[in-house]
Amino acid sequence: MVKVVISLIKADVGSYPGHSLVHPALVEIANKELSSAKLSEIITDYKVLTVGDDLQLMMSHQKGVDSSEIHELAWNTFMKATEVAKELKLYGAGQDMLSDAFSGNVKGMGPGVAEMEFTERQGEPLIAFMMDKTEPGAFNLPIYRMFADPFNTAGLIIDPSMHGGFKFEVWDIVDHKKVFLNTPEETYEILALIGAKSRYVIKRVFPKDNPKLPSDEPVAVISTDKLSQIAGQYVGKDDPVALVRAQSGLPAVGEVLEPFAFPHLVSGWMRGSHNGPLMPVGFNQAQCTRFDGPPRVIAAGFQIANGTLVGPVDMFADVAYDYTRKKAQEITEYMRRHGPFEPHRLPMEDMEYTALPKILAKLEDRFEPTE
Ligand code: F6R
Ligand code: MG
Ligand code: MG
Repeated sequence: MVKVVISLIKADVGSYPGHSLVHPALVEIANKELSSAKLSEIITDYKVLTVGDDLQLMMSHQKGVDSSEIHELAWNTFMKATEVAKELKLYGAGQDMLSDAFSGNVKGMGPGVAEMEFTERQGEPLIAFMMDKTEPGAFNLPIYRMFADPFNTAGLIIDPSMHGGFKFEVWDIVDHKKVFLNTPEETYEILALIGAKSRYVIKRVFPKDNPKLPSDEPVAVISTDKLSQIAGQYVGKDDPVALVRAQSGLPAVGEVLEPFAFPHLVSGWMRGSHNGPLMPVGFNQAQCTRFDGPPRVIAAGFQIANGTLVGPVDMFADVAYDYTRKKAQEITEYMRRHGPFEPHRLPMEDMEYTALPKILAKLEDRFEPTE
């Protein structure tokens, strides 16, 4: 049986005005580059998408994960887009390209990556989620709900093939360690970690004792790149992406989308320093305006057919999400009223790489002992 690799590689290489939106000229150049890579059979298929100021390259191929050829293609595409961004004097042109030279893998070089290899099933639905103005931990709550919460995913109860549960690969992105934890039996341990979403992030999910799926092929993968940690100082947002497979022994498409009906609070809004609700939007609403946000997520739905990406379907462009959007806007209003106060503004630890240490340094000599 044929294995397919889906690679979703994204970067902010410039936007307009400010950090709002990717310019169409960047989408055009990305389409041109990937179309010639398809013609020369480096990739099977591709789609170029955008969310806010992030350019998203979705590619299918057979070169395995971490393929230097695929990563180089993405890197060169972002470099070409950066040239156009510079010509147009777009804002933050090339901001996520942290190196001048490619060194075999885009990981740690600025762009975010989610990729997985799996045996393509008879029917292979896949949803690509893309977020702007937030961090990888923003996926913790929805991914947990999809694969572990029976109040979200009816299939965990109704479909016996899911009764074996799932295996979660959780990364400590501060200490660069990982741990595998199983649901349902280690639910409390998983939640203890992933509730601390700025440190522990779900990287992958695998099926466990599932008669319909091999246990060594991931069913979900999330980008975990943390730009601030890579660059040593604040250079922009992580703006994560995720790939989630659905149906036939996995959560149904509707169960995969359902967690986003709750606009949970995530960090990364305005200057990477504020909490706000994650608003699910259609492709044409994926532009961050109010207070550079609020944070948003799009969902691009596909069927994979012999590696071809049949889609995308704009999954959140549905009136059924209007209520969530309304709720997100109410929360936006409520959070904004806090101005510079926590918990709208992030706590000190999470502002480590922003201007706050400089402000503290400036005031250092003026601090006196308290009584
Ligand atoms: C960037 C973002 C924005 C910027 C803000 C300040 O993704 O979310 O909120 O942090 O616009 O940007 P600079 O410092 O580039 O003027
Ligand atoms: Mg930007
Ligand atoms: Mg962004």
